[in-house]
Amino acid sequence: MSILNSYHYPKPAEEGLKLQYVGKRLAQLPTPAAIIDIAATRRNCEAMLAAIEDIGGLDFRPHVKTHKTSELTELQINGYDRKRDRAAKLVVSTVAEIEHLLPWLLEKKRKGTLIDVLYGLPVSPSSLPRLAAMVNVLGLSSNISLLVDNPDCVDIIAKAKPSWPGVIEVFVKIDTGYHRAGVEPDSEPFWAVVRKLTQQQDKIHLRGIYSHLGNSYDGDSVEDAVNGLKLELEKLHQAGKLLAGEISPVSNAFIYSVGATPTATAVQNLAGDTPNARGFRHSLTAMRRELENKGIDLTIELHAGVYPLLDLQQLATHARPKNVNFYSLSSEPSHRYAGLSIANLGLYILAEVASLYPHRAKPEGLIAAGTLALGREPCKAYPGWGIVSPWGDGDVAWHWNHNYENGKAKFYDLDLPEADRTGWIVGRISQEHGMLTWEGPPSEKRELKPGQKLLIWPNHACIAGSGFGCYFIIDSDSADSTVVRDVWVRCRGW
Ligand SMILES: Cc1ncc(COP(=O)(O)O)c(C=O)c1O
Repeated sequence: MSILNSYHYPKPAEEGLKLQYVGKRLAQLPTPAAIIDIAATRRNCEAMLAAIEDIGGLDFRPHVKTHKTSELTELQINGYDRKRDRAAKLVVSTVAEIEHLLPWLLEKKRKGTLIDVLYGLPVSPSSLPRLAAMVNVLGLSSNISLLVDNPDCVDIIAKAKPSWPGVIEVFVKIDTGYHRAGVEPDSEPFWAVVRKLTQQQDKIHLRGIYSHLGNSYDGDSVEDAVNGLKLELEKLHQAGKLLAGEISPVSNAFIYSVGATPTATAVQNLAGDTPNARGFRHSLTAMRRELENKGIDLTIELHAGVYPLLDLQQLATHARPKNVNFYSLSSEPSHRYAGLSIANLGLYILAEVASLYPHRAKPEGLIAAGTLALGREPCKAYPGWGIVSPWGDGDVAWHWNHNYENGKAKFYDLDLPEADRTGWIVGRISQEHGMLTWEGPPSEKRELKPGQKLLIWPNHACIAGSGFGCYFIIDSDSADSTVVRDVWVRCRGW
């Protein structure tokens, strides 16, 4: 039996939340709360789409796993430019995400927008009836594709065919180095999957191949991110050339889908007219030409998920420069890109100071926000679980450029050598509570008081958001960046 996710993970009442909180100030919100700065988020979404448009010859399929809201999915698809009307090509990591997006998807379909959703990991077999139900609701013109990397799973998926309208479309998941899911090109497991797909061609059609280079988070420079992207593409092309000879796709269309936020947003480093950028575009053309010679029309698409909100883990990859002025794009509109800096972090966790321990060797404070609000994801750039932003000294309109004073950061700045960093971080963490620790000379300590609310940058936005049923939306481009402009309900669970 297939049970809708919303029975297990009920969602908060959106209208009630909006009535209660829109127009309120951050300091009036219950804590902990997840806060999205729409201005930074818009910039990040625009930058991704602009880079895809500027480079040309690439498609983009946003992942919705980070935020799980229809509002941000729309921004990922069309950006802030209301003139765009792009296909609803998405990656999801749970059936719950599709179920939650269903009203939005149906509205898209009503307007004639193409729906093309990819379940981004090999699917657990018991989820197939719920997925089939979604395909039935969305209809034959829409697509929900699955990933496969095991011959037995191909057989299990084939058995779901009677309840699935049309053929079941799949991508083969290729392991390009992350070693989570996937098969390596030309390996025995790769060929076992290919053989099985050939046998099941009447029920299952191969659409393309997919890679997620999660280990690109280990990178530390623009070069690392760009090289990661190139590596993913090369590995997929290695697999694609082999598949082109073996399996005839339904149409002659075939897709390479690659990316994680460091590698996908790295294309912002590759727009313009530099030798590196020209070389990249040339390699895309060469891949397409090689498959064209085998009668295949290749689409190369990027996918990414955490890029609209970003987080401290992403800053630590240095996958893009901090400052957009870096881009030497001659006549290109470089302002369309977004720097990888705290100004473009879209997610904060609002937490309240519960107590203070100024007498300790390292001054400390207790906040009522722990693992369940911030996650327990480390960040390789510092030994903590979140960084306290400078906001919070009074309930007054506050502007984001107040993060710096005379060029000096008013927070624990990851750009400085560790010994020179000064500010509050979440130094220890337990289930519902976190310990703030003051880093730097005690004499420079920023005074806090019990009951004070603080905005904290989390290490990993996907995990931090998962503790909340909704996001409160603020807008740092507006005259008063501390006023709640909207409330977005998100889904949870599987
Ligand atoms: C299979 C898969 N694809 C794509 C992504 C998107 O990666 P990122 O969150 O780095 O943008 C993820 C994220 O975990 C993923 O698991």
